This record gives sequence, structure tokens and C-alpha cells, in this order.
Amino acid sequence: EKGGYDHFMLKEIYEQPKAIRDTLSPRVNNENEIRLDDISITKEELDRINRVYIIACGTAYHAGLLGKILIEKYVNVPVIADVASEFRYGNTFIDENTLMIVVSQSGETADTLAALRLAKEKGARVIAVTNVVGSTISREADDVFYTWAGPEIAVASTKAYTTQLVSLALIAMQMATIKGTITEEDYSGILNGLNKLSKQVKSLLEKEDLVKEAAKEIYNAEHIFYIGRGIDYDVAREGALKLKEISYIHCEAMPAGELKHGTIALIEEGTPVIAVATQEHLYEKMVSNIKEVKARGAYVIALAKEGNEDIEETADSVIYIPEVIDELTSVLNVIPLQLLAYYVAVMRGCDVDKPRNLAKSVTVE
Ligand code: M6R
Repeated sequence: EKGGYDHFMLKEIYEQPKAIRDTLSPRVNNENEIRLDDISITKEELDRINRVYIIACGTAYHAGLLGKILIEKYVNVPVIADVASEFRYGNTFIDENTLMIVVSQSGETADTLAALRLAKEKGARVIAVTNVVGSTISREADDVFYTWAGPEIAVASTKAYTTQLVSLALIAMQMATIKGTITEEDYSGILNGLNKLSKQVKSLLEKEDLVKEAAKEIYNAEHIFYIGRGIDYDVAREGALKLKEISYIHCEAMPAGELKHGTIALIEEGTPVIAVATQEHLYEKMVSNIKEVKARGAYVIALAKEGNEDIEETADSVIYIPEVIDELTSVLNVIPLQLLAYYVAVMRGCDVDKPRNLAKSVTVE
């Protein structure tokens, strides 16, 4: 049932090129246009929406962070992304002019479901991005957008995340098209980028041996720090969550520019730092941050775009990701981060598919 793989997690990591294709192909027609039958929101409704909430937990929340960036940029409406267990108990500004997007692989997470119910009670429209057909969240939302990743068995979420990213990009593009807030150039840039992802993910999976080498350097660490800026910080958070939940190493993701406001005090000789440096306009700033941690003795594994080979002068080890627009980098960056988490956990002898204290679906609040 594991299809020849040692663990479900590894199998699911390898299923990502197909999962991404399956998310995209029913929604992109032969004329290369996005057509989402799943979401019936009209222009009138969208024009009324003055605030969007993206609510989720764990990995799904990390995917939601990209939704916020894309919707704010292309749909031109403010978006609040929050974890469900915080959102519920804070001040909420929800009425019939609010759109809520809940993201949940299982469609059963208690806090996310409660957020959905709260939003509906107050008259908001709710779109669910979920992987499980017929799940509670799918039944209660106004619109359901399935990620079509196929069953995800391992507790550590992998293919759900990449397909959630792709789904949120599609939803943002659809909303922007209906509202008329996106240029043709941006639209085709993102769509072409989406169409290339599946092959690019495949090419990254072929770098598995390189990631294994990197895992050997860090698997004995007590603490590992992940740094990035902008979208790269969001994927850094996902990478840190993945590694901590299956290897039990303390991992923390930091916005790279925030390091010097405290966390850099923890960097000592040999402390591993995973630096994600794939946002073009933030690249130089990231290189400076890498130098800062190197000067304190960090062992740096960097993720960078092909073409930025000069990073080898600063980082100890570099994994390159292929050419991709900045908005879609997370789909690629997360692949080596997932593999790194997986191999570190295997090297430490951990129960990769069933980490201690965790459940696949969290149905308690
Ligand atoms: O089923 P959901 O997407 O609602 O689950 C949310 C989180 O519990 C889940 O992503 C969790 O963080 C994973 N174990 C992360 O790998």
C-alpha cells in the first residue's frame, strides 16, 4: 500500500507532481484560461466584499498565507490570515460583506469548522479549500474547492500543502478576473508558472541525494533555525513545522530581518540555519542575513534560484530551485524542505508516519 516506499510520507512527497496536475487540469481549459466551476461567486458579490479572512491550522494555515498575498495583490481587498484557534476568540469583523476562505486537508479540524460556523452565522460567504469529499467542512461551506491531492495518510502534510497553494492561486486569479483587477500580463505569467510546476517539482525530487547529504550534516542538532523574507518566510515556517513534528528537533522559523532583534543570540558554532533566498527583490538582503549568522558560526543550508550561484560564497550548502515567478516559489521550495524533514527523522530513527502526540485529523478544540 506504500507503493514500494518506506513510508507514506515519502510516497506522498513523490505524488506531488501528479497531485498538482490533478488540481490544475480540471480547471484550466484548452484555451489556457482558468475556469472554476467550483466557485459561483458573482461580480456583484465580489464588489461588495470588503474584507477576506483566510482561516486554517498548521500546514493549511501556512498555505493560506500565500492566499493572503495573492488576493491582496490581485483582487485588491484586505485579507486577514489567522490560525483558527486564535481567530475564534479574538475580535472578529464579519458581516455579509466578508468572504471567508477556510483551508483544511481533512475538512474535519474542529477549530477551523467552528470558524466557518461563526462566519456563516454572521452572514459571510464561505469558500472551503479541502481535500476530502463529503467532509463536514465541505458540506457546510457555500462553495467547495477540492484540492484533488488524493488520500493523505502520513500525519505530516505534504501534497495537501502544495495543492492548497495551487488552489489558492487559482481562486485568487478567478476572483481577480471576475473583478477585473488583474492585468493580462500578470494573469498569463501566473498561469504559465502554474502549468510548469508539476515538471519542476519532479526535477527537484531528483535532487533527493543532495538533500540527504544536507540531512547528514544537521540530524544531530538540538535547534534548527529557518529564515526567509516575504513568501520565503512563509515557506520557512512550513519547513520548520515539518521538521519539528517528525524529528522532535526544536525548529523555529524567523523573518530574516527580525533575527537581530533577539533570536540571533541563539546562534552558536555549528547551529544549522536553513535560509530560503528565492525572492528576487529580497535576495541581497537575504545574503546579508546569511553572512550575519555565518559570522556567529552557523552552518547554513540555502535555497536559492538557479542563476544566483554567487550564494555559494556565503552558504555552506545550496539547493537550487528552477526558474519560477516569485509568487509560486513556495511550491518548489517546500520540496527540499519536506525531504530534509523526512531524512532527518529517518536518520534519528523516528516514527515518520505517526509522530508522537499527533493525530492526522484534530477534532478537538
Ligand atoms: O486537516 P487540516 O488541514 O485542517 O489539518 C490542519 C493541521 O492539523 C495539519 O496541517 C497539521 O499541522 C499537520 N500535521 C502538519 O504537517
